[in-house]
Amino acid sequence: MTTREHWVRPLDLPLPPAPPDPLARPVTRADAGHIAALMFASYHATPDDEGQGPADAAAETDRLLDGTYGPFDFDASEITFRGDQPASATLVTRYQGDALIAFSMTAPSWKRRGLARAGLIRTLARLAAAGHPAAHLAVTPHNTPARALYTSLGFRPAPTA
Ligand SMILES: CC(C)(COP(=O)(O)OP(=O)(O)OC[C@H]1O[C@@H](n2cnc3c(N)ncnc32)[C@H](O)[C@@H]1OP(=O)(O)O)[C@@H](O)C(=O)NCCC(=O)NCCS
Repeated sequence: MTTREHWVRPLDLPLPPAPPDPLARPVTRADAGHIAALMFASYHATPDDEGQGPADAAAETDRLLDGTYGPFDFDASEITFRGDQPASATLVTRYQGDALIAFSMTAPSWKRRGLARAGLIRTLARLAAAGHPAAHLAVTPHNTPARALYTSLGFRPAPTA
C-alpha cells in the first residue's frame, strides 16, 4: 500500500471562477457503472495504478457510493460526459465530518484539457456554499499530475499536530 499524504484547502480562500460545463451533473447511485469504468481507465498506467482490474474498480465504486469511506456526498460530487462516455468526475465523501475529495479522475482521451481542474473548482465552490470550512484529500508522493493540480488550486500538506 502506497503512503498517502493528507492535504487540505481552507474554503474561505478565494477560488478561480467556476468554469461552466453544461454536461456536468450531480452523481446518482445509478452512475456506479460509469464511475467504475472511469476509475479503471483513468488510473490505468498512472503513478497510482496498483494493478487493479475492472472488477476491482467496480467493487471500489460500490464501497465508495455505499459509504464505506464515509457518507458519499451526492450533491457536491459531479460527473461529466463527452458523448455517451464518462470523461471526468470529482467525488466527495465525509471523513470524520469533514469534506474529503475522495477521487478526481479524467478518462485518458480527455486528460490535460482542464476537466479535472474545472470539476474541482465547481466542487469546491459547492462545498464552500454548503458551509464546509475546508476540503481534504489524500495524495501519493509520486503522483506528479495530481500534486500539480492540487497545489495550483491551493491545497497544501495538512499541518501535523
Ligand atoms: C490527475 C488527473 C485527475 C488530472 O486530470 P486532467 O483532467 O488531465 O487535469 P487538468 O487538465 O484539469 O490539469 C490541471 C493541471 O493539473 C496538472 N497536470 C495534469 N496532468 C499533468 C501531467 N501529466 N503532468 C504534470 N502536471 C499535470 C497541471 O498543473 C495542469 O494544469 P496545466 O494543464 O494548466 O498545466 C488525471 O491525470 C487522472 O485521472 N489521473 C489518474 C487518477 C488520479 O491519480 N487522481 C488523483 C488521485 S489523488
